[in-house]
Amino acid sequence: MRRSVVAGVGGYLPPKILTNADLEKMVDTSDAWIRERTGIVERHIAEGELTSDMAVKAARTALDAVGLAAADVDMIIVATTTPDETLPATAVIVQKKLGAHKAFAFDMQAVCGGFVYALAVADNFIKAGQARTALVIGAETMSKIVDWTDRNTCVLFGDGAGAFVLRAETDADRGILDVVLHSDGRYHDLLKATGGVASTQTAGTIRMSGRDVFRHGVEKLSEVVSEILAKNALDVGEIDWFVPHQANARIIEAVAGKVHVGADNVIFTLDRHGNTSAASIPLAVADGVRSGKIKPGDLILLDALGAGFSWGAALIRM
Ligand code: ACO
Repeated sequence: MRRSVVAGVGGYLPPKILTNADLEKMVDTSDAWIRERTGIVERHIAEGELTSDMAVKAARTALDAVGLAAADVDMIIVATTTPDETLPATAVIVQKKLGAHKAFAFDMQAVCGGFVYALAVADNFIKAGQARTALVIGAETMSKIVDWTDRNTCVLFGDGAGAFVLRAETDADRGILDVVLHSDGRYHDLLKATGGVASTQTAGTIRMSGRDVFRHGVEKLSEVVSEILAKNALDVGEIDWFVPHQANARIIEAVAGKVHVGADNVIFTLDRHGNTSAASIPLAVADGVRSGKIKPGDLILLDALGAGFSWGAALIRM
């Protein structure tokens, strides 16, 4: 059986750091409120860098980790809500900047769920034999669609990019084991931008009904984690690392509590990264690998929920 093996991972964060203390000077908030209600301490902000620039840096790190050149890549998917341009896809700009001329490239839009969606799509292309070496990237400049006068949302988000190199292997005992996806557009008003190409011809800024998103997040993420475990006849004790989308520490704790994952088995980067939307999971995996927590052979479980709502979970043997 053909499998998509995670051969390399990489992450990139822009150098400028915006602390909670900095935000205290911008809106009516406090470091104590942000820490207590979200778990975020600081986030990175892109200055003079586009989504594609950060994506390229994360992709190069992931390719270097496995000793591959851009010319070896035959598919690029960029999960993003913050493309460089309305058209073309940011993925083809990444392709040009990397020099990955053999690849076909396209974007994936599922907001904070985007990376899990992109993994599922790449995995299916690889299993179908249409790609051998894929770059799956989550890259976001959320700072460009944040309303910096809205304290309800501006304290939450950060910029960055993360990337996986997936390689086709036959009869591998590692790789992507399963991905489960869900969407429910009935909730699209709870978290959305105030603009769009067809509606206002502007990008708009983020508006969120935080309490509702929180409630649905805990419910849907714990359900999808239980679903993927049951589908694969796995006990939660067999998971080495739980790598959740990094949106709110209280959501992560509540989901971990409901599915009985111990705090010591959770990769947590939210305090340093903020919510980087589609970039948060690959950034967290890259952080876990770099710090020596996630090791070859470990079983990791990813989950994410984003605007839409679109959500999902993935099981990967590293
Ligand atoms: N500083 C100080 N006070 C604040 C701030 C702030 N930054 N933001 C809101 N408040 C106030 C509110 O105005 C409110 O005051 P009031 O009671 O006088 O009206 C009070 O704090 C409580 O507000 P809540 O919204 O009830 O606070 P809550 O505890 O729910 O925390 C938060 C808000 C952090 C946004 C939380 O609801 C949350 O994390 N929601 C989920 C966000 C999320 O997961 N998003 C993921 C998807 S993102 C994507 O897909 C792009």
